[in-house]
Amino acid sequence: MDVEAQKRAAAARALDFVRAGMRVGLGTGSTAKHFVDLLGERVRAGLDILAVPTSDATRAQAEQLRIPLTTLDETPELDLTVDGADEIAPDLTLIKGGGGALLREKIVAAASAQMIVIADESKWVSVLGRFPLPIEIATFGAKTICRAVEAATAEAGCPGPATLRQRPAGRPFVTDGGHWLLDAQLQRIVDPPGLAGWLCRVPGVMEHGLFIGLAHAAILAGQDGVRLVERR
Ligand code: A5P
Repeated sequence: MDVEAQKRAAAARALDFVRAGMRVGLGTGSTAKHFVDLLGERVRAGLDILAVPTSDATRAQAEQLRIPLTTLDETPELDLTVDGADEIAPDLTLIKGGGGALLREKIVAAASAQMIVIADESKWVSVLGRFPLPIEIATFGAKTICRAVEAATAEAGCPGPATLRQRPAGRPFVTDGGHWLLDAQLQRIVDPPGLAGWLCRVPGVMEHGLFIGLAHAAILAGQDGVRLVERR
């Protein structure tokens, strides 16, 4: 199985958790895209669900597949969210935001009774941090915010440079919420809750990509098949 087939296998397994009548959060990224695709097939076959997308891209995909959509304003509580991740630690703490949708992803995950992460095995790590941590920030005072973020990560015991995410053309990457993103190269995040606490104290940080205590289970697909890891 190549990586794309692994992502699709993980997404397919997640369908087992979807029941008729559920309100479902739809993740963002290449793995979540497979899930939305497969869910679309089920909806076409008659499955009755209502979904909230975590990005404009996922909304567009879901609309094309005619998946019935709602918003958190209309439907503030969801039953299940299925989303990808950039890194998954054994306690199911995650790094997310590689695709730039972490703010909506976190709001939707937190509004869900259950969050299931789907990924290929390469996302499973013993310690988070090799993947640069995405941090969504206000555009006002971005340089000042960036310096404060670097000071916060140093205080949290994982110093490293934070850089503004840019598009290939050299313009800043703008999130669906109109904010910018920093990517912090921290290498080893030994205390994710501690780091999260430091980052939340920086004025201008809208949200960070550490998902702590949100994922209930991970579905990981590799060469040897698909496994389910549940949070203890
Ligand atoms: C989107 O902002 C991210 O959180 C994605 O869920 C994450 O980057 C995983 O994406 P892939 O499935 O494309 O690796």
